Amino acid sequence: MSELVVGVIGSGNIGKGVAQLATAAGLETVVANSRGPASLVALIAQLGGRATADTVERAIERADVVVLAIPFGAVGDLPAGVLAGKVVVDATNYYPGRDGHVAALDDGGLTSSEYLASHLPGVLLVKGLNNIDFVRLPQLGRPAGSPERTALPIAGDGLDAKVRVIEFLDVIGFDALDLGGLAEGRRSQPGSPIYVTPYSRPADPDVEDPTQRFLTAVPVPVPLAQAQALTVNA
Ligand SMILES: NC(=O)c1ccc[n+]([C@@H]2O[C@H](COP(=O)([O-])OP(=O)(O)OC[C@H]3O[C@@H](n4cnc5c(N)ncnc54)[C@H](OP(=O)(O)O)[C@@H]3O)[C@@H](O)[C@H]2O)c1
Repeated sequence: MSELVVGVIGSGNIGKGVAQLATAAGLETVVANSRGPASLVALIAQLGGRATADTVERAIERADVVVLAIPFGAVGDLPAGVLAGKVVVDATNYYPGRDGHVAALDDGGLTSSEYLASHLPGVLLVKGLNNIDFVRLPQLGRPAGSPERTALPIAGDGLDAKVRVIEFLDVIGFDALDLGGLAEGRRSQPGSPIYVTPYSRPADPDVEDPTQRFLTAVPVPVPLAQAQALTVNA
């Protein structure tokens, strides 16, 4: 069993999915949100295994790998000093309609992870887990070597941090496709060919309710070669 401790910041859709995969893989998993550990009792009971809840600061301190699963608009609340020196997977995406406009991102000059890194000095930031939806994420995890193994893109400037994240993804059931530095994260941002769509079959048009259509869409494994093809010219 891997001894990685995972800190999941954000207990919503994607945070829950990551925590489910991590606990299922036997990892010690610390979950935090904006409302504090008392609000997480039911989720921790549901997760079982080695899951616990803590404050954001303590979850970061305890973790070897931190996963940011909060709205991009909330990243300004993160405790930069506590995050410094930590390996952090940035699963956030910038949606100006939801998160508010950031001029430096609207002109396309920076990726959202580069922007985040510039506000979190010393953080070992790796873009990842941002391009698969929260329903398909827990459905598509498979053991290493499985013919149905899915690959997820990562991007980051530090090799050691990426090695750590590749290990983490491997343990929770995914291959990693290294796109390169943080700037290359644009190839997995919203609107890119590998963003969300390839990981499920087109939804059933006979299901009228759009939420049900999304929830019931059949997951589709995306092997490494396909992930490479989807990102090479993106
Ligand atoms: N939904 C997806 O399928 C998906 C897939 C990939 C990536 N993402 C990205 O992942 C991020 C989260 O999306 P989501 O769908 O999981 O959102 P969500 O369901 O709304 O959950 C957001 C979580 O973030 C927590 N949070 C908000 N502000 C916080 C703060 N200042 N400190 C600590 N925790 C805070 C919330 O805490 P409370 O519960 O206490 O309010 C909540 O648990 C977004 O950037 C999104 O683009 C989403």
